[in-house]
Amino acid sequence: MVRPRCAGRPTTIKSLATYVPPRILTNADLEMMVETSDEWILQRTGIRERHIVDPGVGTSDLAREAALKAIAQAGLTPDDIGLIVVGTVTPDMMFPSTACLLQHKIGAHRAWGFDLSAACSAFTYSLTVASQIVASGGHEHALVVGADVMSSIIDYKDRATCVLFGDGAGAVVVSAAQRDGDGDGAILDFEHEIDGGGGAALCMPAGGSLRPSSHETVDQRLHYVKQDGQQVFKFAVRKTEEISRRILARNGLTPGDLSLFVSHQANRRIIESAAGRLGVPAEKVIINIERFGNTTAATIPLALNDAVCSGRLRRGDLILLASVGAGFTVGTVLVRWGF
Ligand SMILES: CC(C)(COP(=O)(O)OP(=O)(O)OC[C@H]1O[C@@H](n2cnc3c(N)ncnc32)[C@H](O)[C@@H]1OP(=O)(O)O)[C@@H](O)C(=O)NCCC(=O)NCCS
Repeated sequence: MVRPRCAGRPTTIKSLATYVPPRILTNADLEMMVETSDEWILQRTGIRERHIVDPGVGTSDLAREAALKAIAQAGLTPDDIGLIVVGTVTPDMMFPSTACLLQHKIGAHRAWGFDLSAACSAFTYSLTVASQIVASGGHEHALVVGADVMSSIIDYKDRATCVLFGDGAGAVVVSAAQRDGDGDGAILDFEHEIDGGGGAALCMPAGGSLRPSSHETVDQRLHYVKQDGQQVFKFAVRKTEEISRRILARNGLTPGDLSLFVSHQANRRIIESAAGRLGVPAEKVIINIERFGNTTAATIPLALNDAVCSGRLRRGDLILLASVGAGFTVGTVLVRWGF
């Protein structure tokens, strides 16, 4: 057996909180905006509704709600946080980073931090980065946030993408663990990949240094998500299975050892196909895309939160987080749940 990648002292997810804006965009609402139907959306994606911010609300606002709850739930104050990593593809603005804006909003006076851009893998990547810094002894407590206001970059005239996405945030506090044993929480291992060859399949073409914003880019609707849905779908199913098998094998585990498989929520059919190929039975798979759509960096914490609230995730459970996103980015984190 090859050694897991995690080195240093053990770390754990100490708390979890989420936030979604109150306004709901239903499939019926979308039927009035583009040529689509509730039946098509539900059958092809599993989504019934998604939460959407009101104008003037940014990613840092959603992140703030989740972060303050997660910090309090961990029995800490914002001053205890040494590091803030915000996974997002919809920062409030190009700079300053959302981590800076969040640090100020929650009053985390002793923290440094940064944004991490990995699209739908942002939560798994951010969790790994924060966990490794805590494991190294760099900090006792790190705040990891996955938050996106996807409605800010979605073209509500493009039926192929506008039905898929929603807004939301999730936050966890990653802390040094007492020890890595049965019943105690631990972030056990991670496995990540990127494949830049898939970049064109899912991107927002304008607004960066290559194609700065101009009247032309706005006229061409290049500040919105563009996607080759089928290419992304096939890659996501194949890679979710492949990388999950690799991390489990490295730890001497099989899919049968998992209490719960917590995949990024992009499409119900992607999750069911990947879980089916892995051989994880439906009762061990969390699917909550019906209520939130694809909230990009927030889907995994939102799924974890539902699992905890419904009693499907308990202290000591072995769970696998898995994600595929634009880039392409691919991520898995093996976790023993600690509360
Ligand atoms: C986007 C996605 C739901 C489309 O589903 P699909 O089964 O691949 O559908 P297709 O793209 O083949 O389109 C099938 C038909 O439905 C139509 N269609 C697309 N969106 C539609 C909508 N919202 N309502 C009704 N019809 C729609 C297409 O125009 C096409 O019509 P045609 O056959 O007349 O050309 C699916 O490809 C997907 O989920 N891909 C992955 C997306 C993803 O995960 N993105 C985030 C990654 S992190």
